[in-house]
Amino acid sequence: MFKRKIFVFTLSLIFLPFCRADLSLTLDQNEMAKANSMYQRYCSLCHGKDREGYAADHAPSLRSKSMLSTAYPQMLFDSISWGRVNSPMDGYSEQTGGPLTDSDIILLIRWLAQKENITPIDLDESPISGDASKGKKIFSKNCTNCHGTQGQGITAPALGDQLFLSSATDSYLKHAIVNGRDGTPMQSFDETMQDHDINDVVAYLRSQASGWSAKPRQLAKWPNPNEYIINPTGESPQFTLREGRYVPAREVEKALIDKKKIIILDTRPGSAWQRIHIPGAVPMPYYRDKSKITEDLPNDDTWIIAYCACPHAASDSVINHLRSLGYKNTGVIDEGILKWIEMGLPVVAGKDKINNMSE
Ligand code: HEC
Ligand code: HEC
Repeated sequence: MFKRKIFVFTLSLIFLPFCRADLSLTLDQNEMAKANSMYQRYCSLCHGKDREGYAADHAPSLRSKSMLSTAYPQMLFDSISWGRVNSPMDGYSEQTGGPLTDSDIILLIRWLAQKENITPIDLDESPISGDASKGKKIFSKNCTNCHGTQGQGITAPALGDQLFLSSATDSYLKHAIVNGRDGTPMQSFDETMQDHDINDVVAYLRSQASGWSAKPRQLAKWPNPNEYIINPTGESPQFTLREGRYVPAREVEKALIDKKKIIILDTRPGSAWQRIHIPGAVPMPYYRDKSKITEDLPNDDTWIIAYCACPHAASDSVINHLRSLGYKNTGVIDEGILKWIEMGLPVVAGKDKINNMSE
């Protein structure tokens, strides 16, 4: 609780427009249009054209009133700025290597709220007490099918995520459990669970929080186009494509070991590439100006393999574009990078290690 207050305070110091009075102003037509085009470019891929969610990767609805009225504005700001670790939701803030400024993010949040005519609910923010070990049992019985046994998220958001837990207050969690999320598979537990059971579950979720705070990252330089090809003098790899498109992670690993000539595109937001990527992968976010993509990539039968966390939504969109322009040897890593990491395949993490790699 204490940490969160400091964080909120620091944010409002850095970014003055982030105050309630300003947030309640109505956006004008130009602002609405700008927010809409940002949303379509950066977010609709997973959250859907109309903010309904579930277009890809079980991305939640961004129009549920239950969520918007309690997440507005702090939770939304944190989630969009910093993303959620180990999920396809990456950070979009410039500070993490993403494309959006703080004011862009505030504009998006105000737009999301205004689209649904949201009035923020002032929750009672005092900590909720409950029995965490009882809560764990209730959670295992009622929640893990969708949220995962470790709260890692399956078809529903990862409730064990540290950023989530640091910006979701006890009352925010309780509100979600009591009210559900309208228009989504998250039902209300108001009628099926006693109030003290819900408090126990909240206490359990809280006990999983180990702390998180916003730390601007040291950002690595993006590679130059002349560094795009891995092993430029190597031979072309041979891949078996599932459905004419998807390459097994193991075959890509083998191509790297055998020093084959290949380009690997990381199609997630730039922030995700900054955090962790496959060695030699070029950041080519799905939202990048399409004309820029072809400017930099050789159309000469060099194998170009894309990946994302989704595991396919972002990479498919880039590969579809390349194929429409006649790029022949193109594919998508079937498992995506989250599975790649789970399989123990090589990755480069953070700036320092990226430097090591190019030695
Ligand atoms: C590649 C897919 C993808 C893209 C693109 C994406 N998101 Fe997400 N987003 C997700 C997923 C998946 C989650 C749930 C993460 C989890 O497990 O907690 C999520 C969660 C969120 C949440 C938290 C919602 C909640 O109920 O807790 C917000 C807010 C959000 N995204 C906003 C955005 C915005 C705004 C953009 C565009 C700037 C965006 N997302 C782009 C996949 C995506
Ligand atoms: C049938 C699947 C399912 C079950 C079971 C389920 N949930 Fe959810 N839950 C979801 C989905 C899906 C969402 C995201 C909804 C959206 O906004 O699109 C969600 C959202 C939430 C959120 C809000 C997360 C956020 O990012 O704002 C909380 C908290 C939550 N669930 C807690 C629970 C608890 C506790 C239980 C068990 C008592 C539970 N859920 C059971 C599917 C489920």
